[in-house]
Amino acid sequence: MNLIRQRLGRKLFFSYLIIILVGVVSLAVTAEFHAPSAFDRHMASMETMMGGSMSGMMADLTANFRTAVNEILFVAAGIAMATAVLVSSFVTRRIVSPVQQMKTASQRIADGRYDERVQVVGEDELADLAQSFNQMAHTLAQTEERRRQLIGDVAHELRTPLSSIKSVMEGLEDGVLPAESATFHDVQHEVSRLQRLVQDLEQLSRAEAGQIILELEEANPAAFIQAAAERLRMQFDDKGVALRLEMVEDLPHVQVDTARMTQVLLNLLGNALQYTSPGGQVSVRAWANSNKAIIAVQDTGIGIPVEHLRHIFERFYRVDKSRSRTGGGSGIGLTISKHLIEAHNGRLTAASPGLNQGSTFTITLPIAA
Ligand SMILES: Nc1ncnc2c1ncn2[C@@H]1O[C@H](COP(=O)(O)OP(=O)(O)OP(=O)(O)O)[C@@H](O)[C@H]1O
Ligand SMILES: [Mg+2]
Repeated sequence: MNLIRQRLGRKLFFSYLIIILVGVVSLAVTAEFHAPSAFDRHMASMETMMGGSMSGMMADLTANFRTAVNEILFVAAGIAMATAVLVSSFVTRRIVSPVQQMKTASQRIADGRYDERVQVVGEDELADLAQSFNQMAHTLAQTEERRRQLIGDVAHELRTPLSSIKSVMEGLEDGVLPAESATFHDVQHEVSRLQRLVQDLEQLSRAEAGQIILELEEANPAAFIQAAAERLRMQFDDKGVALRLEMVEDLPHVQVDTARMTQVLLNLLGNALQYTSPGGQVSVRAWANSNKAIIAVQDTGIGIPVEHLRHIFERFYRVDKSRSRTGGGSGIGLTISKHLIEAHNGRLTAASPGLNQGSTFTITLPIAA
């Protein structure tokens, strides 16, 4: 019994067998009880037609008829049985083998072989299942790839400041470097960079897990735009990049965590400043349209080539790795910003006409009810 329960093919075969059996038995029973009376009725009418008694012949005829019916039933049952074997083995192959394939593939995936896929045959539910299975495998592979990449990226980001601290320390120990404040300042700088990286990573992991707690309040966008601009004003002046704010009067209010929004604007303005040469200009414009408040940070800087645009919100993504490294960027700022804006049910997008043609980052936020 267990053998039948554990095998889909056998289950199918036995279900066919039951149908055949019921068919044969019901036919036999009907023939046994109904056929003689029907036969007698017809023969009786023939008897009156032909006139005279035929009772001796009748008995013979009835017996022969019964044997014939049983013979036919026997042959038909044999044919039906053979058909059941053929059909069930065919159907089994069509149903069981894809299922078996998926079972094997899922075991391989469980062993960490995420490149495993199954063949999609036909368009039935099994094909749908195979397709979903492949999709799941693809998502798992991507997640695994991202995890591996994250670890690689973090290790890479840690390596540079650590090795630079190590070499300064060795220099101090060997007496090659003087023990003076400039040397210690270098170490301090690298340590701050590490600290910032750790803070960013912490925030990133919280953001990616959807664990950002927002302290929402109704605010005028002008308030946090000005707050961010004031904090960076000196740095803009020092570099010789103009910072202009263009906001319409009576902007509609938005429901936001103002500290987080200031942080996003600091990120965007910081980037705009970093990637714009002296003499350039950065402008922040804010306006409203129907039910959205829109804030655009536009710069006249180095721009972003179109093939990089769709990647810049990915963590650790830098358009030019060597260039940004000297600037100290690790490529997390925009990732965090995007998560923060999306936590506010808003959108953050980037646009750039191309290299050296400036960039525009646009925040869209729903207006407070
Ligand atoms: N205004 C901009 N103009 C040109 N390129 C930009 C601009 N803003 C961002 N980018 C590109 O997008 C990349 C990702 O930006 P992001 O802010 O995430 O990282 P980062 O500034 O390099 O480092 P950090 O994590 O310190 O912010 C940058 O490395 C840069 O190549
Ligand atoms: Mg940045």
